[in-house]
Amino acid sequence: MTEDLINNKDIYFPSYIGTNDNLKLLVNRTSQILCEWFSKAEKNGPLSFDENFKSIMPDEDGNSAEELFSEMESLLNNSFNPVHPGSLAHLDPPPLIFSILGDLIAAGLNNNLLAYELSPSVTLLEESLCKWFAKKIGFNDSSGGIAASGGTLSNLNALIAARNNAGLGSDSNCVLIVSEDAHSSFIKCIKIMGLDATNLVRIKTDKKGSMDIQNLRKTLDDCLIENKKIFAIVATLGTTVRGAIDPIKDISDICKEKNIWLHIDGSIGGIFAVTSIPIDGLHNINQSNSITINPQKIIGITKTSSLLLVSDMSTLENTFSTGLPYISTTENIINRGEIGIQGSRPAEVIKLWLGLRFLGLNGIEEILKSSIKRKDLFLKNINKNKFEIYSGPLHIVSFLPRGLKPKDTDLWTKNKVNELMKNNFMLSRPKYKAKYFLRVVMGNYNTKESHIEELLKLLDGYQ
Ligand SMILES: Cc1ncc(COP(=O)(O)O)c(C=O)c1O
Repeated sequence: MTEDLINNKDIYFPSYIGTNDNLKLLVNRTSQILCEWFSKAEKNGPLSFDENFKSIMPDEDGNSAEELFSEMESLLNNSFNPVHPGSLAHLDPPPLIFSILGDLIAAGLNNNLLAYELSPSVTLLEESLCKWFAKKIGFNDSSGGIAASGGTLSNLNALIAARNNAGLGSDSNCVLIVSEDAHSSFIKCIKIMGLDATNLVRIKTDKKGSMDIQNLRKTLDDCLIENKKIFAIVATLGTTVRGAIDPIKDISDICKEKNIWLHIDGSIGGIFAVTSIPIDGLHNINQSNSITINPQKIIGITKTSSLLLVSDMSTLENTFSTGLPYISTTENIINRGEIGIQGSRPAEVIKLWLGLRFLGLNGIEEILKSSIKRKDLFLKNINKNKFEIYSGPLHIVSFLPRGLKPKDTDLWTKNKVNELMKNNFMLSRPKYKAKYFLRVVMGNYNTKESHIEELLKLLDGYQ
């Protein structure tokens, strides 16, 4: 009976009548496969991939459920496994269980955030959640935001709005200012905006990896002389390589004085603003015009989940609204396809909402504090005579043996990454200031003290 149901190929869609037993069985079976894969991480390590893995394409006739389950298993077995305690390479933590469930519900709902009529409850949910975040960080009543698929898109939404707000939409002399440690996606944003490298001005960073304010002031003067029109300054709240934070108060004072849009790229550090964890600069973020918060990067909301919050919602409406001639409008409700780049969009906000509802503010704080604690433990125990270390207030550390020549860092980090991987630790090797570093990102809740000790011993760096 069960086998018949599972292999019934006449059932393409959930039914509007009856009990949908077939779907229940398939979902149960899928969750069983998923859970088995999670626990296989212990044996297979953080990254298991067989070079013989083949992507199998659709046949003339559809395939049976059994075949599909076996292909799903093969896909999983050839994937990065974020739940392994040695998965410490990137900003990709284990998925929160309630976010996984949120993704399932979002897929089943198949609502569309383009329009209120296609997603009434989820439209209101997204609007409310953005407002909730906006209020939490200290924005006032005119604030709000929009979800997007990742930090790059949230930043892009902000930059397009900033340029539009400055009236520089078609001005090839306009420039964006970011620090030299800002994320590489700003280069992409500039290209998408029809500009080029000359429109992206980079400010030096100081020895903490934060934007150098003197250099920013001088650059602003130079821009004036060269008739470059600045449409936004980006302050990074958590840089990718070392988790540094730009001096947000100083930058916001300058932006106010010169009437320039301040965007904060809080893709990594923004979520700390809803906690009481004392981090410099966090209480000034409400002085910005916009901020990206990307809870997929630390607290385990499943990908993708990013929010752009703006101090004034009318800036998004003025920038993106075209009218949607084929969609109904409802008084006092914004069709969310009208306030951002994306049109059709899944109900991704459900996994964020469920994840946050499950954790509560205390749970979020607990997860973030635990990341900092792991970073502190790593820093406390790493041999500082042996390694040159770059880190900031967040949970990221980049390091390299002291005295290694820049040209030797490529090979050293490659060898170390391979060696560590054989011992089930996955670290990354970012290029920073003309050298390659090893980077450890301590956002994995499954990583325990004993794992950190083991990692340091493998690096021969335990002090
Ligand atoms: C500081 C920062 N900003 C933006 C991004 C881009 O985010 P996404 O990969 O979600 O588009 C990243 C990615 O790591 C980042 O570290």
